[in-house]
Amino acid sequence: MQIVILKDATEVAEYGANLFVNQLQKKPASVLGLATGSTPVALYQNLIARNHAGDISFANAISFNLDEYLGLDGDHPQSYRYFMNQQLFNHIDIDINNTHVPPGNAADPIVACEVYEQQIAQAGGIDIQLLGIGRNGHIGFNEPSSGLTSRTRVKTLTKATIEDNARFFAEDEYQPHLSITMGIGTILDAKKVVLLATGENKAQAIKATVEGPLTAACPASVLQMHRNAVIVIDEAASSQLADVDFYKHIEAENQKLLARLARK
Ligand code: F6R
Repeated sequence: MQIVILKDATEVAEYGANLFVNQLQKKPASVLGLATGSTPVALYQNLIARNHAGDISFANAISFNLDEYLGLDGDHPQSYRYFMNQQLFNHIDIDINNTHVPPGNAADPIVACEVYEQQIAQAGGIDIQLLGIGRNGHIGFNEPSSGLTSRTRVKTLTKATIEDNARFFAEDEYQPHLSITMGIGTILDAKKVVLLATGENKAQAIKATVEGPLTAACPASVLQMHRNAVIVIDEAASSQLADVDFYKHIEAENQKLLARLARK
């Protein structure tokens, strides 16, 4: 794992956005794995600005989102489809037909999960997958105890996740307790994985992800097995790590190497 520790959320978003910019510049027809939640919003704003500036185009890109609430239509303001349209897709030159979010209103969700896996495979697999992380170490809606080789499927949310996400729902509004989520195996198949985390409330999950044992008790710890995973965090999210100086030293050396290679 590459551990990148930056000053604050703004730097984290910029670093993460640059990884997507590099990917799209290298391969305009990239398959992008996207996430919802508060963490990626600043990264998406960055990508929108870079798209408007002409640095990147999404015209040939295809996207697959990690997850969706089961039982919400795409036009429901709390659905992840609605979120993605509002936060990213409506503001960039992507063809909306090339954007995929698991269908929360599928008549047969089990079949819909299989179809989602097939669509990813038909697109050639995900080139770069963006992840946030839950306080309990979840990625997508893969909560603790999720199978480490699981595929896209229907999952029950934990009470902690329901409570964390309750802030987005009105008090008398129906809040789903089920989701469709890419599995951990689906995420691990991505060629590159970029996990972003900011703030003190993610510090424990980051500690378990980076320095804990590989365990289904912290689904994100599975990234220790990925050949190209980048963990981009701010100082607050790094505050429980034992080896901060070591990670910063490695990243500084990485950057020196990249600068040297770029000069050649
Ligand atoms: C969202 C998702 C979730 C979030 C996680 C963190 O698509 O898959 O795993 O990434 O719950 O959410 P925030 O960023 O709101 O703290």
